[in-house]
Amino acid sequence: MEASDGKEETPLPSALSRFQLSEDYGFLLPNPLTELPDPYGPWMEIARELPQLIASHRLRSRVHQMPQLSTRHLRGREELYLAHLVLSFITMGYLWQEGEEGTVKVLPRHLAVPFWEVSQALGLPPILSHADFVLANWRRKDPSGPLEIENLDTIISLPGGESLRGFILVTFLVEKAAVPGIKAILQAIRAIRQLDEETLHQALQGLATAIGAMGKALQRMHDYVDPAVFYAVIRIFLSGLTCLQNVGASLCGRPLPEHLVSWLSWKDNPAMPEGLVYEGVSEEPMAFSGGSAAQSTILHAFDELLGIHHSQESTAFLHRMRDYMPPPHRAFIEEIRRAPSLKQHVLCSGDTRLRAAFNRCITALADFRSYHITIVTKYIAVAKAKAGWAEVGGWAGRPPAALEAKGTGGSHIFSFLKSVRDTTRDGLISA
Ligand code: HEM
Repeated sequence: MEASDGKEETPLPSALSRFQLSEDYGFLLPNPLTELPDPYGPWMEIARELPQLIASHRLRSRVHQMPQLSTRHLRGREELYLAHLVLSFITMGYLWQEGEEGTVKVLPRHLAVPFWEVSQALGLPPILSHADFVLANWRRKDPSGPLEIENLDTIISLPGGESLRGFILVTFLVEKAAVPGIKAILQAIRAIRQLDEETLHQALQGLATAIGAMGKALQRMHDYVDPAVFYAVIRIFLSGLTCLQNVGASLCGRPLPEHLVSWLSWKDNPAMPEGLVYEGVSEEPMAFSGGSAAQSTILHAFDELLGIHHSQESTAFLHRMRDYMPPPHRAFIEEIRRAPSLKQHVLCSGDTRLRAAFNRCITALADFRSYHITIVTKYIAVAKAKAGWAEVGGWAGRPPAALEAKGTGGSHIFSFLKSVRDTTRDGLISA
């Protein structure tokens, strides 16, 4: 990231680009592609019609008729990200088209093989993750217009109509609001190394302001997302695959490859108890977590900079979520972790102004997490209490029962979220 040995400092843009971070968009993919090259027309046609194909129960048969396409014509990171986005959305639609009662055990070869290959090329798991759902899934309606929700749209969609669109785009706005905070991290680390307390103070001010702006962006969830639709329709398409024998490090009876061990979490959906066979990839079923903003790099990066230590159990989950991030973003977190400790520096400096600025960051982060709990209460706990069928665009959703006991319906999510918020507060430096 920066020289600690007296060498010339890397300019901010190149420090960011080392981790595939953009000065304007942070972890978001800058101006993602919306079309794949010609050979991939069959994928794009299905992806564009996903909500209708799922609602009319025709997606599975369309996938069965899909030609086997080689991934060798995909060039560069943008095409690979769009291919991953398209294949991950088709996969989630394919798995959950019939709701939790009509799941499948096998992902057909002509979907499984290219999805696996593209995932390998990007270092992402072969399932829908935050990187697909949000980071690579946005476009401006008017290319020269502002980055406001009215001028934004998703590239690929699933059932959930305007609420799904709002859920993705509000999360986009939270990622966008975090951008000055990401730059502030680099400034802060540089300032610590150069013992430049004035710049460090500015960076911490910038970080606290960015976290406050993220909270404001998160509030917009209320305007765009209907809790009943989120609860009954959207959630199921974000859920993962589980394999009940998959306790410890084995995958349906067989030892689990090291790199997959961490891809298992409580978010796995018991409606798919045997996991999923990726036909043509492996004969053994595999299990992955579903998509969650816990896979966003932002808060992981802030936690590392501010030296926050979560409980062992929460850390285990959060660290597993890092395996769902693009590898350069994961490397960014590692780089922050290896940098000199900000908290130690502030403590040793004895500078009350720095201490106050540090504490403002901690308070802003704990407040963001408290507000997130309010949102989760509305969209999960309250929505669960009122739960009924919800119908959007022809897809009638019944609240998924398998997610009630485990996963996003369970009460343990609140103990987890509160514990993470409380350990954030514990990071305050007392006077
Ligand atoms: C309707 C909106 C939302 C709901 C219902 C929701 C729900 C949840 C749930 C259930 C968890 C627990 C872990 C899991 O099951 O994956 C979680 C974790 C998390 N969510 Fe959200 N979420 C929402 C929006 C967001 C947004 C917009 C962000 C911002 C990027 C976000 C960031 C996080 C983070 C960082 C975690 C990990 C815990 C932490 O570090 O505090 N969530 N969320």
